[in-house]
Amino acid sequence: MTSDGSLATSHADWCGSDAAGLRFTGPDEAAGPECERILRSLPAWFGIEQALQDYVADADRYATFFAVATAPVAFITARQHGPQAWEVHCMAVHAACRGNGIGRRLHAHVEAWLQARGALVLQVKTLASSHPSPDYAQTRGFYSRLGYLPLEVFPQLWGPHLPVLQLVKWLGGVPAAAAPGDRPGL
Ligand SMILES: CC(C)(COP(=O)(O)OP(=O)(O)OC[C@H]1O[C@@H](n2cnc3c(N)ncnc32)[C@H](O)[C@@H]1OP(=O)(O)O)[C@@H](O)C(=O)NCCC(=O)NCCS
Repeated sequence: MTSDGSLATSHADWCGSDAAGLRFTGPDEAAGPECERILRSLPAWFGIEQALQDYVADADRYATFFAVATAPVAFITARQHGPQAWEVHCMAVHAACRGNGIGRRLHAHVEAWLQARGALVLQVKTLASSHPSPDYAQTRGFYSRLGYLPLEVFPQLWGPHLPVLQLVKWLGGVPAAAAPGDRPGL
């Protein structure tokens, strides 16, 4: 990779898109700079400077995981909301590496990490279909493919004209309080 983040070798080499060429790390300390490099490759999604800076700062506050080939090529920042409830706070695959299965594999890695800690439900927020962005239509397609279900639209959560869709994914397992054996008569 060159200093400006562009590609010095073929996409396949740099992205580690073969199964053996990718490893996963995290939660990582000081994740911000690598997240910023990845986010800046995706101006159609992260073109609002303040929002980008917030995601970079959040990468150091919350659990952040990377898919690493010859360099980090994707990340997920996961935020805990309750004992069994987490959120994909930010996710991005470097523009040069999208569509190679890296997002799915990194998400699976994070799911496994969360399940090992007792997580039962995962949410993510993204632009709703009432916004005309074709780019975010791709994002919704990805989350749908990974098993997320649309839950609710918040028309003003991110500001005027930025309708937010909340999606949820059940990670399996039964909440302890709702286990049938715990309920009298069942
Ligand atoms: C969205 C994103 C994280 C997906 O990562 P990716 O590595 O490109 O996606 P993958 O190649 O792992 O795709 C995983 C699956 O989703 C499917 N998919 C991807 N885009 C899709 C779309 N627009 N519609 C339907 N399915 C889609 C793929 O076909 C694949 O399916 P399969 O594994 O069952 O064959 C990545 O493209 C990205 O960073 N996009 C820009 C930023 C962004 O949207 N971030 C999330 C902000 S909320």
